[in-house]
Amino acid sequence: MGSPGLHRARDKMQRAGVDPTAIEVFSHYYRLLEHGETGMIPESTIDPLEMESLADVEVDDEAASEALRGTVVIKLNGGLGTSMGMDRAKSLLCVRRGLSFLDIIARQVLHARKVHDATLPLIFMDSFRTSADTMHALARYEDLAVKGLPLEFLQNKVPKLLEKTLEPVDFPKDPDLEWCPPGHGDIYTALLGTGLLDSLVEAGYKTAFVSNSDNLGAVPDPKVAGWFAGSGAPFAIEAVRRTPSDKKGGHFARRKQDGRIVLRETAQTLKEDQDALADLDRHKFCSTNNLWFDLVAMRETLRAREGVLGLPLIRNVKTVDPADASTPKVIQVETAMGAAIELFADSRTIEVGRDRFVPVKTTNDLLVLRSDVYDIGRDFVLDQAADEVPYVELDVDYYKLVGDFDKRFPEGAPSLKQAQSLKVGGDWTFGHGVRVVGKAELPEKSGAQRVDADSTLGERAPAGVADG
Ligand code: UTP
Repeated sequence: MGSPGLHRARDKMQRAGVDPTAIEVFSHYYRLLEHGETGMIPESTIDPLEMESLADVEVDDEAASEALRGTVVIKLNGGLGTSMGMDRAKSLLCVRRGLSFLDIIARQVLHARKVHDATLPLIFMDSFRTSADTMHALARYEDLAVKGLPLEFLQNKVPKLLEKTLEPVDFPKDPDLEWCPPGHGDIYTALLGTGLLDSLVEAGYKTAFVSNSDNLGAVPDPKVAGWFAGSGAPFAIEAVRRTPSDKKGGHFARRKQDGRIVLRETAQTLKEDQDALADLDRHKFCSTNNLWFDLVAMRETLRAREGVLGLPLIRNVKTVDPADASTPKVIQVETAMGAAIELFADSRTIEVGRDRFVPVKTTNDLLVLRSDVYDIGRDFVLDQAADEVPYVELDVDYYKLVGDFDKRFPEGAPSLKQAQSLKVGGDWTFGHGVRVVGKAELPEKSGAQRVDADSTLGERAPAGVADG
């Protein structure tokens, strides 16, 4: 079976009652890790990918609603928002008017059900760290769960491995921290292992629409559902055109060897291919992580591979206690959901508007979402009220962690509707009713500073800033 480290990791998983398929999947990745697998995709092996745009596609209204009637909405909600200093699901954060991401998602789906006369089950993929909070927050939506189906399913947990020895780490101070969710690529293993995939197929659902719970742009859109149903493809991902800020991120491509669509992440790009990775005219599209797949086709593929899809490995190095840099370094074995696009010869991609891709990865993104850049209408869909989405860059020393960020916007976010950019250096606390117009920059000064209530910041109005 291999090394003692793997033996101990498997043993630990068995004792914790982890699903046997998930143990096999983990073992597969452990062996790759041991062999120093890097998953590199050289530029010479891929071609750029072109695709059709949703804006150019005609979908009959009735066919679109019909497609939604066969769709189940799944939200990825197992991550811990560690980049924003959280150890709970990001979706519990407040967006606006006391509504969290979870409230808005629930209301988007309840509204779409009514309009399209669709059952449209909403199911969260939670992890052992996010389940209790999420279920508690959703308890107020009594009619959200669909009869015969759960409101959540749990993803698997895997042991964090000591970077030096690949042994499962011991952390008696907080044994929960010895485990991590293995990335959102675990969705396929978890759907199979929990029996949910079977339940959905048996209940007559055809398609899963999966997206991140931190992306409120990912509404179950009938036109995309209709396009996917009409395409006959088993698997599709919504793409957006890359912009200069996506230069360093991953992109879609076509593998020369077999013509399949692949996703190449930064970590899979060789040093000498970095220029090609950043070439927005060559590699034009990146993933939204909004994904559609045929439930039966996915079940067949999983069964044929005995649950081990063999997605590219992501080797994520952190400390065992993410909040304490002095604790031992560990490797978290992860995979990404979108990588499954290469499993199917006839996978598809479609270009969608940026309105379907509003991810919240940092507090900069959260500030935009909490401001007036978007209206939230009666359908709870985000509606861009500003001409452009401003570029926000807050000083990481004072705003990166969500607790620190909240303290500095005690009265809520400033108005950013007319802003082009907001850059904040140093420690500034914003008063009530601040407005940003055009380009605004607050310089770093020593000590805590205040932005006066009801003041205007920006190139057209430099006044309104006072030292505190
Ligand atoms: P991210 O990696 O952007 O979010 O995952 P995160 O894990 O919440 O945040 P960090 O990286 O720790 O800061 C995108 C989506 O995938 C889900 C997250 O909940 C988020 O909606 N996810 C991530 C899972 O469901 N399971 C995982 O194991 C990882």
